[in-house]
Amino acid sequence: MTETTGGNDRNGRALARTGYLARLFNIGEAETVSLTTIERRCRMDRTTERKATGLAVVTGASRGIGRALSAALVAEGWQVLAASRSGAAPEGAQGVACDLATGAGRAALVEAARSAGRPVHLLVNNAGLQEALDFAAATPEAAPAIGDRAAMEVALNLTAPVALTAGMVPLMARPGGTIVNVTSLVARHPKPSAPVYSATKAGLASFTRSMRRQLAPLGLRVVEVVPPLVATDMTAGRDAGALGAGAMAAEVLAGLAAGRRTIAPGKAALVLRLDRVAPWLVARKMAAM
Ligand SMILES: NC(=O)c1ccc[n+]([C@@H]2O[C@H](COP(=O)([O-])OP(=O)(O)OC[C@H]3O[C@@H](n4cnc5c(N)ncnc54)[C@H](OP(=O)(O)O)[C@@H]3O)[C@@H](O)[C@H]2O)c1
Repeated sequence: MTETTGGNDRNGRALARTGYLARLFNIGEAETVSLTTIERRCRMDRTTERKATGLAVVTGASRGIGRALSAALVAEGWQVLAASRSGAAPEGAQGVACDLATGAGRAALVEAARSAGRPVHLLVNNAGLQEALDFAAATPEAAPAIGDRAAMEVALNLTAPVALTAGMVPLMARPGGTIVNVTSLVARHPKPSAPVYSATKAGLASFTRSMRRQLAPLGLRVVEVVPPLVATDMTAGRDAGALGAGAMAAEVLAGLAAGRRTIAPGKAALVLRLDRVAPWLVARKMAAM
C-alpha cells in the first residue's frame, strides 16, 4: 500500500480513501489504480464515441421505454437496431423481429448486429416482462402454468441480458462500448406480488456489478438504469404520477453522457438516496405495492 501523508491535501485524501477501500475489499492497490485509470480512459473515449455516433442495439424497442430510447438515439444520429417480437421500430431505427425469451431469438439479434458490419457501441438490455404470480394459490392443476409464466419471465428478464452480453461482447467497440442494463427499484427490495420479476431484477443488478469489473479491462462500461414508475403498457392503469417514456429516455442519455454508473431518473434517485439512510422504510413501501 502507498503511504499517504498530508490529510489536508485533496489528492492525499483521495489516495488514502483508495488505499482504505483496497484494504477493506482485499484488493491489491495496483488493481484499484488500474481500474480507476481504465474508467478515466473510458470517460475520454466517450467523447469520441458520441461524435462517432455508432451502432446501438436496444431490446424491447417496439413500445414504452425502449421505443423512446431508440427514437432519442436516432435523433442523436445513432444507427439503431430495435429488437422486439413484433419488430416494430420508431422511424429511423431498423426493427429486428426476435423472441428474446428463446435462444434462437437471441442468436438472431446477435447475427443482425454482426451483419451491420460495424462495432456495437451501445447495447441496451431493456426488454422485460412483469407477471403477478401468486404461489399461495398454486394447486396441482395451477402449478404448471405458474411455473411456465415464471420461466418465461426469467428467460426474458435475466437469461436474455446475460446471453446477449456474451454474444455482443466480441462485437463491441473496445474501448468505448457501453452495456446498459435496465433493472428496477424492486431489485433492492422485492415487490411480493411480483416475486419472480423482483428476483430477476435483483439478479440483473448483481450481474451488472460483476460485468462492470470483468469488462473494465476491455474498456467496456456497464451501466445500471433504475427507472421510477414510467407510463407504459407495463404500468397501464397504475401510472398516476408516472414519468413519461420520453422524459425517461432523455434522462438516460444525459446520464450516459455524464458517465454515470447508475442512472436513476425522476423519483428513482430520491428513492435510492432514501434507501441509503432508511432501507426499512423503502422496503415497507415496496412490500405494500
Ligand atoms: N415502466 C415502468 O414503470 C418500469 C419500472 C421499472 C423497470 N422497468 C423496466 O423497464 C423495461 C421496459 O419496460 P416498459 O415499461 O417499457 O415495458 P413495455 O412497455 O411492456 O414494453 C416491453 C417491450 O419488450 C418487448 N418484449 C416483450 N416480450 C419480448 C420478448 N419475448 N422478446 C423480445 N421483446 C419482447 C415488447 O415488444 P413486443 O411485444 O413487440 O415483443 C416491448 O417492446 C423493462 O425491463 C421493465 O422491467 C419499467
